[in-house]
Amino acid sequence: MKTFPTAAAWCFGILFISVSLTTTGSSEVQVVGSAGDDIILPCSLKPSVSAEDMTVQWTRLNLKAEKVHLYLDGRVSNEDQFPSYKGKTSMFNEELKNGNVSLKLNRVTCSDVGSYRCFIPTPRQETTVQLIVGAVSQPVISVLSCICVGAVSQPVISIVGTKDWGVVLKCESGGWCPEPEMEWLDSSGTILHADGPPEKHRDSEDRYAVRRHVTVNQTDTNRFTCRVQQQEINHLKETEIHVPDDVFPKSQVGLIVGLSIAAAAVVVLAAFAGVYKWRTADSVL
Ligand SMILES: *[C@@H]1O[C@H](CO)[C@@H](O)[C@H](O)[C@H]1NC(C)=O
Repeated sequence: MKTFPTAAAWCFGILFISVSLTTTGSSEVQVVGSAGDDIILPCSLKPSVSAEDMTVQWTRLNLKAEKVHLYLDGRVSNEDQFPSYKGKTSMFNEELKNGNVSLKLNRVTCSDVGSYRCFIPTPRQETTVQLIVGAVSQPVISVLSCICVGAVSQPVISIVGTKDWGVVLKCESGGWCPEPEMEWLDSSGTILHADGPPEKHRDSEDRYAVRRHVTVNQTDTNRFTCRVQQQEINHLKETEIHVPDDVFPKSQVGLIVGLSIAAAAVVVLAAFAGVYKWRTADSVL
């Protein structure tokens, strides 16, 4: 296996391109690159007509579509570009006349992970519409994902202490990229309400370490699971803990029940003693 010189190269960028055209059905292409590389997100007009005077809109399909690159009526128009793409995007000027509107992303990192859309609004001229309809107006989606090649650490659970009548648990895991999610679950798989959002920080190698606390109360099983996952690449690691009964603080209910039983026992004993005394006194008479 190849060893990569830079720490950033621990993350691989994997490019999945799924192009669906109404006329030709669908096709899928997969391109692999590593972080730090310049990556090309492919998109081209079919049949290949010149895109030199057209509008091509590249967006990243995040929560709000981020404007990655805009080629408007024949010129680059990046005033509204999302800040993290400043100076990072370009199209191939010499290729536009061949209908090649691929986007070059310089020095990709794990934070570039996501789905990208190449969109060419149908041009107005009727002749052009006929020529390119069915292909051009279809957005092309490229999905850029990122996985770690090095070891992702198995989540580690520790018991931190007690709070009220519950036990505070901590889960930690490192070496992740892209950014993972961390959840606490009970033994039936229900997501527990954690003590706060996950705390994440990036180490020197651009990987994420994540930590999250939860306060749990006693259950039938006392089993709890910490799950770390990267949804977009379907990657998941889990660790389970069994918290022994005696770690939980003795609950107030237990205390009250215990005291009541003790009190009842005293009363019963006293009553017996009374009866006995009375009986013995009786027999003496
Ligand atoms: C578009 O142009 C780039 C740069 O020359 C090239 O790498 C890529 O293969 C071209 N795409 C197509 C579909 O021709």
